[in-house]
Amino acid sequence: MDTFLIKGGQRLSGSIAVSGSKNSALPILAVSLMTGEACRFGNIPTLRDIQTQVKILNTLGVETQWTGRVISTLMRDTYNSTAPYELVKQMRAGVCVLGPLLAARGEATVSLPGGCVIGERPIDLHLKGLEALGAEITLEHGYVHAKAPKGGLKGAEIYLGGKFGSSVLATDNVMCAAALAKGTTTIECAACEPEVVDLADCLNSMGAKITGAGSPRITIQGVRKLKAANWSVIPDRIEAATFVLAGAITRSPITITGCRPSHMLAMLDVLRQMGIHVERKATSLTIVPEQRWKATEVVTLPHPAFPTDAQAQTMALMSLAEGTSTITERIYPERFMAAAEMKRMGAKISVANGQAIIQGVEKLSGAEVMASDLRASAALVIAGMAAQGETLISRVYHIDRGYERIEERLRKIGAKITRVSSGQPEQALAAGG
Ligand code: EPU
Repeated sequence: MDTFLIKGGQRLSGSIAVSGSKNSALPILAVSLMTGEACRFGNIPTLRDIQTQVKILNTLGVETQWTGRVISTLMRDTYNSTAPYELVKQMRAGVCVLGPLLAARGEATVSLPGGCVIGERPIDLHLKGLEALGAEITLEHGYVHAKAPKGGLKGAEIYLGGKFGSSVLATDNVMCAAALAKGTTTIECAACEPEVVDLADCLNSMGAKITGAGSPRITIQGVRKLKAANWSVIPDRIEAATFVLAGAITRSPITITGCRPSHMLAMLDVLRQMGIHVERKATSLTIVPEQRWKATEVVTLPHPAFPTDAQAQTMALMSLAEGTSTITERIYPERFMAAAEMKRMGAKISVANGQAIIQGVEKLSGAEVMASDLRASAALVIAGMAAQGETLISRVYHIDRGYERIEERLRKIGAKITRVSSGQPEQALAAGG
């Protein structure tokens, strides 16, 4: 298992480019199941989760060729329609093949994803949405089996809100299934995340008829067939936010390039409240360094509000703020695994009932810590870069799921971070993502 060794306290300089969005790429690659034509997907980040998705697609009969940032796909004539446990347990987003498979083949069998360290992650909304389109759903032996009725899926009016609000991947699954259903589907309380819009735009480029993506009401007029996709995914807003926070916490005037600041307004507003100025251009952000910043309150909610996926990294910045900050986690109330590790570095954080209270301290000190999931690992990297002395982060395979060669890229802008390989194999299980 690999570890990261970070020598903290370095100032960063220069610019760092943002990769393509993991959470856009995962469902977008699954649309290769929905057409018999060859597809080409660009700006795909080289990540462990994308490798897992490619393996799932291969199992389902999609031939793939991965060259640089492009994945080309083609459906074979013979295929099976089962996404197996050994792959879906590694990455919960594997469930996003459910809607595309059902739409294209009239049936789909997908392993139930199982537990996740960031909290309970049910798929009831996915199933409710597909059932509303007429699918018969059965759960057996740890698998979801969905079968379209004889005449095919039929458009419907679907309320897709749950107790935590909208669901990104449920919206994706239902939108994909409805794209090839008969008639019109309306999804109410649809997720508004930019990744949902990217998927809708990609499907529309293939001949789908989807309007309203990015708003809580999406309307889908079913079509009979989809043609080839030639699509480039949007930049990763969470990676961009992570780099912005890395610049802020190390008091460094770095520029984050190739991002979409318009997807990051809640994040930028929180930084403004903390007294950190960020110069915004159309596709870049530059940090104006501050010696100290103010505490603030953050509540995570579905987009366009503050994203849960940037919460742990923001907690690292808050741990060095002047005053006491709070984070209320409304998407995954138990997603505070980074707190205990940051406390080992001198942070003062208490967590109870879905809320973290972070009393700012003057300095963090390097320590041995353990990464527990994707975003918690990113938070520890940021904290380690600001801490005095050395930080050793174990289990960094989590970070490889969502950040492409992060240590090499951070090193190029001045961070002192190295990967130490133990040579032992890694057994990755779903933990965030
Ligand atoms: N939920 C339900 N029922 C469902 C589905 C979701 O109750 O059927 C609940 C969840 O338990 C959660 C809330 O609804 O409380 C929102 O979950 P959502 O379904 O939106 O999450 P997701 O689609 O499974 C995606 C991202 C996550 C990100 C969430 C929230 C991908 C591949 N994953 O997951 O990304 O946290 O949306 O924005 O798009 C990450 O990248 O680190 C990550 C965890």
